Amino acid sequence: MRFDPAETVNSASATEILPDKQPRFSGMSHVSLACRDLVESKMFYSEVMGGELVHEIAGFVEYRIADIVIGLSEQRGGWTGADDEYPHYAFYLDGANFELMKHWLDRYAVPNYPYRRDDTALIYFRDPSGNLFELYCDRGYEGIASLPLAPRRGGQAIDFRSLNYRWNANSTTLSGMTEIQRPRFTSFAHASIFCTELEQAKRFFTKVIGGELIHDVDGFAEVRIAGVIIGFTVRPGTTTGRDAEYPHYAFFIEAKDFLPMVAWLRQNGVVTTEPWTRDGVKGLLYFRDPAGNLFEIYCRKLGEAASFARGKKQGGGYEIDFAALNYEWDG
Ligand SMILES: [Fe+2]
Ligand SMILES: [Fe+2]
Repeated sequence: MRFDPAETVNSASATEILPDKQPRFSGMSHVSLACRDLVESKMFYSEVMGGELVHEIAGFVEYRIADIVIGLSEQRGGWTGADDEYPHYAFYLDGANFELMKHWLDRYAVPNYPYRRDDTALIYFRDPSGNLFELYCDRGYEGIASLPLAPRRGGQAIDFRSLNYRWNANSTTLSGMTEIQRPRFTSFAHASIFCTELEQAKRFFTKVIGGELIHDVDGFAEVRIAGVIIGFTVRPGTTTGRDAEYPHYAFFIEAKDFLPMVAWLRQNGVVTTEPWTRDGVKGLLYFRDPAGNLFEIYCRKLGEAASFARGKKQGGGYEIDFAALNYEWDG
């Protein structure tokens, strides 16, 4: 018997999900970023970020860094704006690795700005395309007192423009350099993204996405979702472009929650793609938040995926229309 993917989707959508049965994400799968030059990015993510190349196809690579995967694809724009703080992506690291990382970035000629906020030592830096990263060390960095104060703690404004650079990987090769220990990140800490309306974002990320509001001060809020923190703010920044695929942020979901989550999102006024698959095993779905930031749901193994639409790049007929995923949210 032939299983029509549209019927699967419709039947899922027809099921009304009650709030107390709200499906949940189970973790963060990956963050996929736009880059200017894939060759340059590969060098940066393996050498400077210490990533392990885990997937490579034409035009797309993935690196495992600590407990997350960072994907990279060439796009005409979509990295953090030249003057902006959002979006940015943060890793935890301990005090010893914070010190190592400061030297590591200098050695690779990557402009960086170390500073402190209360007991936390931080560093901002960009990848060669401009994507902004933050390192977050909340204990054990002995040199913390020597760092400048954060802007909202009496320090000067951070000059995000000065962190942009043209990376010359050849001039930073290791020849002639003394070996120093490679720094290690502990885990992924957060993604902080731009939103257009803070109150709306708070409603969306708590009620629809199921996050727990853990911080809400000064035009900046954070939710914890499946063990990771997503921050959002109306401070200067950009969302995923209206028709762009990158950046996007992907959550894992258990098989039993995949179709209920599709139904839940649609029931809450969220426009989604069809559930689709590349290989007939993994279940995938894209949707945007009300501001336009692109999210993905990633289910490793799902029986129903055998009948999902196949991606065009995988020889199927399904091509995702990223522009069509924008919507006016009335929630
Ligand atoms: Fe941050
Ligand atoms: Fe993805």
